[in-house]
Amino acid sequence: MDAKTRPIDLFEFLDETHRQVQIQLGHLRALVDKIESEGLDAEARGLARQVLAFFNHDARQHHLDEEKHVFPPLLASQNPELEAATRRLIQDHGWLEENWLHIEPSVAAASEGNQWFDPAELRHALDVFEALYTDHLLLEESIAYPHAKQRLQAYDQLGMGREMARRRSAKTLSAAP
Ligand SMILES: [Fe+2]
Ligand SMILES: [Fe+2]
Repeated sequence: MDAKTRPIDLFEFLDETHRQVQIQLGHLRALVDKIESEGLDAEARGLARQVLAFFNHDARQHHLDEEKHVFPPLLASQNPELEAATRRLIQDHGWLEENWLHIEPSVAAASEGNQWFDPAELRHALDVFEALYTDHLLLEESIAYPHAKQRLQAYDQLGMGREMARRRSAKTLSAAP
């Protein structure tokens, strides 16, 4: 992957994961609707397995990726509003994890065909989870990602500059007698 395309690929990947978050939140809502209307059939168990795999793995990895690649340049931006927004996003990751840990045992049970949980409680927990996720994605897409994209592109330009400088000094050296 060359330095010029890396940030674009990174943000395309992050945007795609946000689309997946919304799809899986929809699956979780469809699961609760289905349990309440038709019970825990094979289709409901399949939805539960997808939701479980996504929020246990992809979503957690997405938060780690953001904390590693997207947030550090924003925390170092010396822009107080941007730094405050970024600290809020990091705090949200903690709240989202806590919400998911509250939801996860019910979805894990549903994926195995067990329904010891109260669907009304699961629906309430989903309402809280979905509201926080929706605000979180909005703040990332409106403020964090555009600023991070600009700053990473600037870093890449510096990287390209260093690359060119290295090639130039190599040429000078090879041309030397
Ligand atoms: Fe995030
Ligand atoms: Fe995100």
